Amino acid sequence: MPTALVTGASRGLGEVYAHELAHRGYAVVLVARDAARLAAVAERIGRATGAIVEVLPADLTDPAGLAAVEARLTARDLPVELLVNNAGVESDAVFAEAPVDALTAEIDLNVTALMRLTRAAVPAMTARGRGGVLNVASFAGYLPSGGNAYGASKSWVLAFTDTVAASLAGTGVTVTAVAAGRIRAEDDPQGPLWLEPADVVRRSLDDLARGRTLSAPGWVYRALVGYLEAPRTALRFAARVAGRGRENCTRLERGDAGGGATRPSPVPTPFRGAPAPVRVLPAGAADLPALPELPARPAHVAAEDFPAPRVSGTGPLPAVAPRAVRRPDAPPRPVQPVREAPTVRLAAG
Ligand SMILES: NC(=O)c1ccc[n+]([C@@H]2O[C@H](COP(=O)([O-])OP(=O)(O)OC[C@H]3O[C@@H](n4cnc5c(N)ncnc54)[C@H](OP(=O)(O)O)[C@@H]3O)[C@@H](O)[C@H]2O)c1
Repeated sequence: MPTALVTGASRGLGEVYAHELAHRGYAVVLVARDAARLAAVAERIGRATGAIVEVLPADLTDPAGLAAVEARLTARDLPVELLVNNAGVESDAVFAEAPVDALTAEIDLNVTALMRLTRAAVPAMTARGRGGVLNVASFAGYLPSGGNAYGASKSWVLAFTDTVAASLAGTGVTVTAVAAGRIRAEDDPQGPLWLEPADVVRRSLDDLARGRTLSAPGWVYRALVGYLEAPRTALRFAARVAGRGRENCTRLERGDAGGGATRPSPVPTPFRGAPAPVRVLPAGAADLPALPELPARPAHVAAEDFPAPRVSGTGPLPAVAPRAVRRPDAPPRPVQPVREAPTVRLAAG
């Protein structure tokens, strides 16, 4: 079962990402500051999908919190194959009136944490030859929004994703930015400018699986982004061609006859019959303990349906199709109170 880590998973878009990924067969690690809220989300996801859910409460603007999440991303036990950098904040004041702390928090979370988590996650992914990073930017990255740091921070996410994606070409690791438009809240009207969270999540995960660098959910935003991105797309193409030229020259200089195979874009087909423990990790926790009760193979699963343990691989990126996973007959699984030990388990359903 591949593992995805989602930041900002305690509500909003992040919760929907976590739910959808669990539904697609990922074990999920949920990150946000509010531990109680995370535990409630984990409980809901565990019940609805049967997925393994970990909760990792952390403030990503705090060095200790950031380090705890980086440690999880580099842990060898249950390696993270997909990182969703979703957590983001927007100060609602205009620049000259905004508290400088609020502006700084926008940069710390939307830019610095996103960069550091990507940097932590990618080396293990490239070593495995598979993996994905989804960076939730915003259509606001194309606009001079509000004069606060938000629009500029999202603009940075778009450019950062572009450059990291280029640097990872051929490694089997995909990095995708999501130029999300306005996401519809309950009291918003319906219309092409208001996007349903589930549509944004599904579209962006599908674009990641297709190896796209940029995802623009919703036809209005897709048309606008296509227009705005045209020069960058042309430059990207030129850079790729130039890069290929450089590679060929290097190969010729080395006397290498060619080959130059690029690895396909990754992520595995998951297994989804395991129990659903919820693990609460204290900030600063390093490597996770193994999950002892993951079964060798449940009796009702045929041997050929049970995946071999994965050490490394080069399969294609989340070739993961949604599957029906609800187990309506499963009894409720109460969450044990958090004790000294960092593991809280839901009884297997
Ligand atoms: N909503 C929109 O219309 C829209 C449009 C385009 C793009 N986006 C982008 O989509 C992403 C999600 O937006 P949303 O509207 O779903 O946001 P949201 O409802 O405000 O949720 C933000 C999430 O980030 C977490 N978070 C905030 N500060 C954090 C910190 N310092 N450390 C760790 N986690 C933190 C929050 O949990 P805690 O408070 O518990 O930490 C929460 O889970 C953001 O990047 C946003 O910029 C949103």
